[in-house]
Amino acid sequence: MLRYSIRSVLNIQKRFLALPAPQTNPEVLYTGIFINNEWHKTESGKTFKSIDPTTEQTIAEVQESSKKDVDKAVAAAKTAFKLGSPWRRMDASERGNLLNKLADLMERDRIYLASLETLDNGKPYAMSYNVDIPMAIKNLRYYAGYADKNHGKVIPMDGEFFVYTRHEPVGVCAQIIPWNFPVLMMAWKLGPALATGNVIVLKPAEQTSLTALYIAQLTREAGFPDGVINVLPGFGETGAQLVHHPDVDKIAFTGSTEVGKLIQVGSAGTLKRTTLELGGKSPNIILSDADMAHAVETSHFGLFFNMGQCCCAGSRTFVEDKIYDEFVERSAERAKSRSFGNPFDLSTEQGPQIDSEQQQKILDLIETGKKQGAKLIAGGKRPEGKGFFVEPTVFADVKDDMTIAKEEIFGPVQQIIRFKKLDEVIERANNSEYGLAAAVFSKDIDKVNYIVQGLRAGTVWVNTYNVLSAQSPFGGYKMSGHGRENGEYGLQNYTEVKSVITRIPQKNS
Ligand code: NAI
Ligand code: MG
Repeated sequence: MLRYSIRSVLNIQKRFLALPAPQTNPEVLYTGIFINNEWHKTESGKTFKSIDPTTEQTIAEVQESSKKDVDKAVAAAKTAFKLGSPWRRMDASERGNLLNKLADLMERDRIYLASLETLDNGKPYAMSYNVDIPMAIKNLRYYAGYADKNHGKVIPMDGEFFVYTRHEPVGVCAQIIPWNFPVLMMAWKLGPALATGNVIVLKPAEQTSLTALYIAQLTREAGFPDGVINVLPGFGETGAQLVHHPDVDKIAFTGSTEVGKLIQVGSAGTLKRTTLELGGKSPNIILSDADMAHAVETSHFGLFFNMGQCCCAGSRTFVEDKIYDEFVERSAERAKSRSFGNPFDLSTEQGPQIDSEQQQKILDLIETGKKQGAKLIAGGKRPEGKGFFVEPTVFADVKDDMTIAKEEIFGPVQQIIRFKKLDEVIERANNSEYGLAAAVFSKDIDKVNYIVQGLRAGTVWVNTYNVLSAQSPFGGYKMSGHGRENGEYGLQNYTEVKSVITRIPQKNS
């Protein structure tokens, strides 16, 4: 059975112990460029290293895509999209079958994929195995079901006409993904795009190419026609080349707000469709009547899950005055008891950050927090030894204008902020350039509903946090991006609507 509820995974220690053993040294099979269902070396001869963030050792040398490789991949995708091609002639239900086949293969290789993800990314194997891989599989299956169900309408029209709409694929979709959930982000991008008949050039993050390349091979094994899925390992430059490419119709991006802006500007020249899933500084509001133990544990999870490397991390924990001191004390205790270390150890809750750059960014922000007067009550340092670790860190007495209350830290650093009144906390929660997610903890339904309607965020969790699924749309307000992934809404990102207007003669002349 596939288990993918993040909350239950985290809380039930027994489940960790029931996991199949990881492959602690999984073999890296693919490091090339995947175009037209074939493996290629780069035209430029350049390679780059994939680093194990736990040991800082090189895992593999990966081919770095050049401009020529980008052109080749886009041309392959364009050819695969031509009218009359196997992909365009394929029954929609058959596209669904292929997606299910890919999901089957990922299920077959779940231990290997989870192990490779943990090696390359540093996230605990218990998470890769129980969260990332099964959620990715569920996503592919969810959209497989939509392949032959995303149809248009017949619309009554004035005059001697009728109109029907066709939901057509957008075309060549460049998908640029980040390193925090490499397999899952790939599945979020592939599922809806393939179900609706698009063709893809995907660029994984330079830190985490390995699972994307392995999945590329699985798409070939599943039987996707040549050129439908192409994967280009490389850096931001490769992403930018896709953004500016005249034959790319759409960009789907998940990553930093900084790069999201570049993509929106860069795609203006060719007016590409863009969907952007960007950063966040999500408020998590705890009212005084909330169940204290549950709120502390869930808020801890809402921030520390995935080493804090979540766009929707609950990084501003607003706690009502009356319960503030107890909440702070319990949160510090919980953070201090968080187990961190070797991600292949099944009881590890926290592995390393993705790279030294992120680690340094987080440590610098912790210093800024201290300098600006926030009270450090847990962690705050990098532990001795190898690996890009940062201790689980908690700040209390955080003020709204401090840098740590405004900037995305993307690390294991919780900010606890005091509030007194509902209207005040709604305004302060919304006082951010971001609007990705939010949460409220309370047993008072009127207060909950009042706060929910006031929050400007794409997802609001009530008495829970970080619950995501294929069925539920996800995306941002404001500078957290635009477009919604997952759910039926996610299909719109990959569909053009064509109105076909036909004359019906009113008399036989
Ligand atoms: P990034 O936004 O630079 O990287 C994400 C992806 O975009 C990668 O595949 C990268 O190669 C690509 N990219 C970089 N520059 C590009 C460009 N000019 N054109 C097209 N593609 C480009 O994120 P980075 O530098 O890895 O992390 C910086 C910060 O971004 C993090 O500290 C965090 O705050 C945020 N971030 C947010 C994520 C999210 O899930 N929303 C994921 C990763 C990072
Ligand atoms: Mg960057």
